[in-house]
Amino acid sequence: ATQENIRNFSIIAHIDHGKSTLADRIMEKTGLISDRQKKDQYLDRMELEQERGITIKAQSVRIPYKAKDGRDYILNLIDTPGHVDFSYEVSRSLAACDGALLVVDATQGVEAQTLANVYMALDNDLEVLPVLNKIDLPSAEPERVAEEIEEVIGIDCTDIVKVSAKSGLGVEELLERLVERVPPPKGDTEGPLKALIFDSWYDSYQGVVVLFRVLEGRVKNGQRVQMCATGKKFEVTKLGVFSPEPTDIKQLAAGEVGFLCAAIKELKDAQVGDTITDPDNPTNSPFPGFKTIKPMVFCGLYPVEPGEYDTLKSALEKLQLNDAALYYEPETSQALGFGFRCGFLGLLHMEVIQERLEREFQAKLIATAPSVIYRVTRIDGVTFDIDNPSNLPPQEKIQSIAEPFVRMEIHVPNDYVGNVLGLCEEKRGIQKDMRYMTSTRVVISYELPFSEIVYDFFDRLKSVTKGFASLDYEVIDYRVADLVKLDVLINSEPVDAMAVIVHRSNAAYRGRALALKLKRVIHRQLFEIIIQAAVGSKIIARERVSPMRKNVTAKCYGGDITRKRKLLEKQKEGKKRMKRMGSVEIPQEAFLAALQSD
Ligand code: GTP
Repeated sequence: ATQENIRNFSIIAHIDHGKSTLADRIMEKTGLISDRQKKDQYLDRMELEQERGITIKAQSVRIPYKAKDGRDYILNLIDTPGHVDFSYEVSRSLAACDGALLVVDATQGVEAQTLANVYMALDNDLEVLPVLNKIDLPSAEPERVAEEIEEVIGIDCTDIVKVSAKSGLGVEELLERLVERVPPPKGDTEGPLKALIFDSWYDSYQGVVVLFRVLEGRVKNGQRVQMCATGKKFEVTKLGVFSPEPTDIKQLAAGEVGFLCAAIKELKDAQVGDTITDPDNPTNSPFPGFKTIKPMVFCGLYPVEPGEYDTLKSALEKLQLNDAALYYEPETSQALGFGFRCGFLGLLHMEVIQERLEREFQAKLIATAPSVIYRVTRIDGVTFDIDNPSNLPPQEKIQSIAEPFVRMEIHVPNDYVGNVLGLCEEKRGIQKDMRYMTSTRVVISYELPFSEIVYDFFDRLKSVTKGFASLDYEVIDYRVADLVKLDVLINSEPVDAMAVIVHRSNAAYRGRALALKLKRVIHRQLFEIIIQAAVGSKIIARERVSPMRKNVTAKCYGGDITRKRKLLEKQKEGKKRMKRMGSVEIPQEAFLAALQSD
């Protein structure tokens, strides 16, 4: 294919605005896939992983397209992950594109989570093509929403494309517009090889499969390549494109998108954002800004049944094969027994992994409160990092504790500015900048302790802005702060897995909130339970769970028999997730309680 006939693009959208449906319809209208049943195989990749030589990444595909002008084009649809935890990966997959379809639901309008991606697309100099979706619905308001896109994002919406991804209406026009508006790729096809990795995954037969875009030069099957980040060299054993089946190809030149296999055994040798080059004629300008993604948020994961330790271990091993950012190592807790300390990119990543462990591997877990990495300096001058609050040395041995800070940009409609500022101040933030994006949309910049974000920031931000904020953040540095360990004691026994590190000014408040929360979730038992929160030897909160009397349910829940049954079933379900601490049974919710602020 010549560069003139290639279009590299991705689809960006707020969740549920129809990104997957539109991708389906594009593949169908271009004849890439025909019947429904076949298509489903490509689209539900996580559930329906097919073992046939090579796993298919559904949404990054090469689509041949004959335009109305009679010319044959190659459309490369490049998938992007959709969340702030993966913002680095989103920016790399957008860097592989020349244009982006910005899908907005015409019944909803511009929503927060799209924005970070739109700005990333604009930062990458992409041609952003707005598309109104769901115009088949009676509640669609194409004019209003088009105006909003102009206003909020600042892109021209005169003759915006209107489609129904569901029925296929307007999709042909969209493809024509795409070919017309998205510029063809540039890049010297004869220069030294320079290819950007925008996705990679582990395949049980082929080893690591790498998706890349050639920026300069060409790559040939059988040649030796070198990864710029690690310097490691590999021989290309398979070169191809997904269309949507993997199809072998001899070479790919600047502007083209494809995959390669090269007996790469570990995902960390072919990470998103790295540049592939030719060791005999290396590029002198690898793609800028490659960074190894490091876990930022840690928590303990423990099997509910001690006998399931090995199952959990092998599940983590399997997940890690395909997720270079997932970290784990064995850990023991007095309260929870044998389990793992696990590290994640962010909170969503943590939730996704926990959910996959439970859904795909049927692992029943108890998770401890997430923690960031603290940098501790002892009075003897030794400095080290800890990712588990219970490993903090005793107070009198500590000279200082530093915590990670992030720089955060929050995009928000101006009505909510006051709320956002209030929240950031409460979270020990330092305001850096505030500017109007449009007359109604504001960008607020703050530096904030990362631990405050991990605590309850996202939920709070969502509630104070009615969901109309989007944010992006990166960790910038470590700063010394007055931090202390907050211990939880149950009947005078410290529960190691519940310890958290907090700012001293928050300790009393957090301690009381935590004790109260625990009181609510720890079921009454036949004896009295005393819950205490302490900093060092100082008790800062105390709650008491009174002993159970007979017939608790009858007394508490009155007459409604179905409701009573439901509650009992819930309790039974909850019972499965108990851990015995001495003689007290502690439910999973107790470990989560440390997370919640109410
Ligand atoms: P993923 O994030 O990749 O899952 O995609 P998405 O969340 O952007 O949206 P998805 O394609 O899953 O669509 C969300 C919902 O909107 C689904 O129930 C679709 O059937 C529905 N939908 C998508 N496009 C249209 C449309 O044009 N008309 C109508 N009526 N419904 C649509």
